[in-house]
Amino acid sequence: MSEAIGLVLGSGLGSLADQVDVRETVAFSKAGLPVSTVPGHEGAFLLGSFAGREVVVMRGRVHLYEGHSAQALTQGVRWMHERGVGSLILTNAAGSVNAGFEAGAWMMLSDHLNLTGTSPLEGAPQFVDLSEVYSESWRDRLRRKAEARGMNLYEGVYAGLRGPQYETPAEVRMLRMLGADAVGMSTVLEAIQARALGMQVLGLSCLTNWAAGMPGAQLDHHDVVETGQRAAAEMVALLKDLLGDPA
Ligand code: 6GU
Repeated sequence: MSEAIGLVLGSGLGSLADQVDVRETVAFSKAGLPVSTVPGHEGAFLLGSFAGREVVVMRGRVHLYEGHSAQALTQGVRWMHERGVGSLILTNAAGSVNAGFEAGAWMMLSDHLNLTGTSPLEGAPQFVDLSEVYSESWRDRLRRKAEARGMNLYEGVYAGLRGPQYETPAEVRMLRMLGADAVGMSTVLEAIQARALGMQVLGLSCLTNWAAGMPGAQLDHHDVVETGQRAAAEMVALLKDLLGDPA
C-alpha cells in the first residue's frame, strides 16, 4: 500500500491534475506514447503527491479511434508500472445505458465487456485471469468513503467500444441486453494490461450523458467534456478521502 498510485484522467476530468503537488512532468512522447490530438486530451505524466500519497497522473490518454494499436495505447500503463505504480485508478466519461441511473453521476466499474475486438496482450499472449479486473477491496473502500460523504456512487458494468462514433439506439439496446450499464471508448484495454502486470485496478465512469435512443439523450463531445468538468470536483474530493486514508 505504500506503492505509488496511478491515476488516468479521462475527458474533462483533468482538473484533478491541478490539485497534484507536481515534482516532475514527463510528456507522452518522452515515455514512448503516441501523441493525442483530441481536444481535452493533452498528454503528459505528472509525478508528485496528492492527498499525501505518491501519485503518477496520466493526464489524457490515447484511444483506438485515433488509429493507435492496443499495444501502443497501453504503453502508459506499462510505463507507470515501471515507475512503481501498483494500483491504478482509471477514469473515463461514459454514456449511461441504465435508465435507473442519473446522468452527471459517477459509476464505479464492477466489471467490463471488452467489445473492442482487440487486446494489449496480442502478440505476446498471456492467459490472464480476469475474474476480478476491478479490485473488490478498492471498491469496498471507495463505497464506504462515498457513503460517508453522502455521495451517490453507482456500480455497474462498462462496455468498451472502439468508437469514435457514438452508438445507434439498436446498439444501445444490444449493450443493455449484454448486461452493460455504461458505454465508452477507453479503459478496458488499460485495465487488461494492468491486470496482466499484477496491478490492482479501480475504474470510474462519469456518466456524462444518456446513450443514444434513451430519453434525454443528446450526444455532443463538448457537452460530454463540460459535464465531466462539473462532476470532477465531487470525484476529486472523494479520491482525496480514499487516498488520504485508505482504510
Ligand atoms: Cl453515449 N458512447 C460512447 N461510446 N462513449 C461515450 C458516450 C457514449 N458518452 C460519453 N462517452
